[in-house]
Amino acid sequence: KTVKTLKEEGYIISAVTNKGYCLAPGSDILSEQSIKPLLKTHAFGKKMDVFKSIDSTNNFAKSLAQIGGEHGTVIIAESQTKGRGRLNRNFYSPGGGVYMSIILRPELSMEDAQLITSCAAAAVARAIQNITGLDAKIKWVNDIFIGGKKVCGILTEAGMNFETGKLDYAVVGIGINVNTKHFSGELEKIATSLFAETGKTVLRCNLIAEILNVFEQYFEKMHTREFMSEYISRSNVIGREVTVTAPGVSYSAVVVGIDQNARLLVKTQDGKEHILNSGEISVRF
Ligand code: BTN
Repeated sequence: KTVKTLKEEGYIISAVTNKGYCLAPGSDILSEQSIKPLLKTHAFGKKMDVFKSIDSTNNFAKSLAQIGGEHGTVIIAESQTKGRGRLNRNFYSPGGGVYMSIILRPELSMEDAQLITSCAAAAVARAIQNITGLDAKIKWVNDIFIGGKKVCGILTEAGMNFETGKLDYAVVGIGINVNTKHFSGELEKIATSLFAETGKTVLRCNLIAEILNVFEQYFEKMHTREFMSEYISRSNVIGREVTVTAPGVSYSAVVVGIDQNARLLVKTQDGKEHILNSGEISVRF
C-alpha cells in the first residue's frame, strides 16, 4: 500500500524478487534529503522547508523573516494556491514546477540591495543552462526566457528597519516552469517549460541545488558587479525595439544597453537617451 502511494507521488520503484523494493535514482521528488547533499553553500539552503502545497512561498518566507528567519533559509513548494508575480499579478503555480523563496539579510547599501533581483536572474539563468544545456536569456529586468517564451519569473520583496533606515531582510521568490506539461489559454503563447524545451523530465532537486550554489557565489560578490557581465550577455532586449510602460506613460524606444547597476538605457525616436530603473518593457519575439 505504501509503495503504491509513493508511486502515485512520482517515485519510480521496482520490485526485486526475494529482496524487496528498489527506488530508482531518476525520481523527480522534491525533498530536503535529496537537495541538501548537493549543496556546496555556506548559508543558502542550510535551513529549508519543503511543502506539498502552500499559498505563496514568498508569503511564508516574509512571515518567517519577520520573526527572525535566518539568512539563507529556503522555502520550497510543489505547488502554490496564491502564487504572486510582479505588479500584483497571479503566478500560475501547478505541480511540476519549482516555487522557492530565499530569505536574505544582506549587509548592503540600499543602492546595492536593488541589484538582488538582477543577481538572482543571472544565477538562475546560469543554473538552468548548467542543468539543461538550454540557452537561457534574461528579459530585463527579471524574467528568464528560452526561445522567446518565459520560463521563470522572480519577485523580490523587502522589509525595512525604520530605526536604522536599512534593509532588514529581502525575500527572493523564484518560480520556474520545470516539468509543466500544459499551459491554458493565453499562457500557451507566451510561456514554456524546461520539459517542453528539452523533451525530458528535469530533476528539480538538481536544479534547486544548482540555483542555490550559483546564487550564493554571485550574491557574496554582488558589490563587485561581477555577475553583471553574465546578466548583460544573456540579455535578449539589447538592440531591440521595445514598448516602455511606466506609471502614466507608454512609448516606443530602442534598447541601447544595460549599465552596471542593471538600469536599462533606451533611445527614443527623437534621439534622446533615457535611463530606466524599473518599469516594464514589452518586446515582440
Ligand atoms: C513574475 O513573473 O512577475 C514574478 C513571479 C515570481 C513567482 C515566484 S514563485 C515563488 C515565489 N512565491 C510567489 O508567490 N511568487 C514567487
